[in-house]
Amino acid sequence: MKVIFVGAGPGNPELLTVQAHRLLSNCQICIYAGSLVAPEVVALVPQGADLYDSAGMTLEEMEEVFCQAQQRNVDLIRLHTGDPSIYGAIREQMNILDRLGINYEVVPGISSFQAAAAALKTELTAPEIAQTIILSRTSGRTPMPAAQELEHLARTQSTLCLFLSVHKMAEVATELAEWYGTECPAAVVFHASWPDEVVISGTLADIAAQVEAAAIKKTAMIIVGPALARDIPVSKLYHRHFSHGYRQADGDATGDTP
Ligand SMILES: C[S@@+](CC[C@H](N)C(=O)[O-])C[C@H]1O[C@@H](n2cnc3c(N)ncnc32)[C@H](O)[C@@H]1O
Repeated sequence: MKVIFVGAGPGNPELLTVQAHRLLSNCQICIYAGSLVAPEVVALVPQGADLYDSAGMTLEEMEEVFCQAQQRNVDLIRLHTGDPSIYGAIREQMNILDRLGINYEVVPGISSFQAAAAALKTELTAPEIAQTIILSRTSGRTPMPAAQELEHLARTQSTLCLFLSVHKMAEVATELAEWYGTECPAAVVFHASWPDEVVISGTLADIAAQVEAAAIKKTAMIIVGPALARDIPVSKLYHRHFSHGYRQADGDATGDTP
């Protein structure tokens, strides 16, 4: 038997991978992150399967379920929201599985930052402006390493995707405005890909007021950076004068790939 850490994606069950869908539809034991995984995804678990919501469980209780699955010789699906590698708290579970001698695998999922970008219909990178995307958060009960405080990330002028931080939107916007300027595009997507998705677009000057008016306090992605603007340089990849390994241009061309 093995434990399979499965990415549940951002919410919409159609955004599950085919592999995740198959595993969930056939599973006999599932521990799912009930505070974040969409009910429509959990509903794919067959009736009669043993279903545990990790929101109310300790690590020791999870270990007991791992042991029961081992004794029954039945695979266990450990369902995490988005992609399990991002703020998934999977390391401590893997440490237990290593100690118990239980094999495990990971099935990746679409992360909420990707679903938020899709909801915004935007590209997170822009030639000459933003060639780096930073996935981060602000400190909560988990402190930020000093070198990764918002100020240091903002200095890079990258596109910032902030998890677990929307409750501090006003603070975040004020701090980021120092580095990106108040007119920098900023967006917040609540419940990306869920039926009650909310998309808010603005600038660092007005995003906090918009978020407050919409009463969004959790399960939202903050995305900030000049790449979110439309009137900026675009990639030369498909330009008719741009040659690359797969296409010969009809004139002289310069430039890099996108
Ligand atoms: C513990 S982290 C898990 C992230 C997850 N592993 C992922 O890849 O998206 C939870 C945070 O992810 C973000 N999040 C998760 N699902 C979301 C969704 N559907 N829409 C917007 N943000 C979401 C929120 O910032 C939330 O506070």
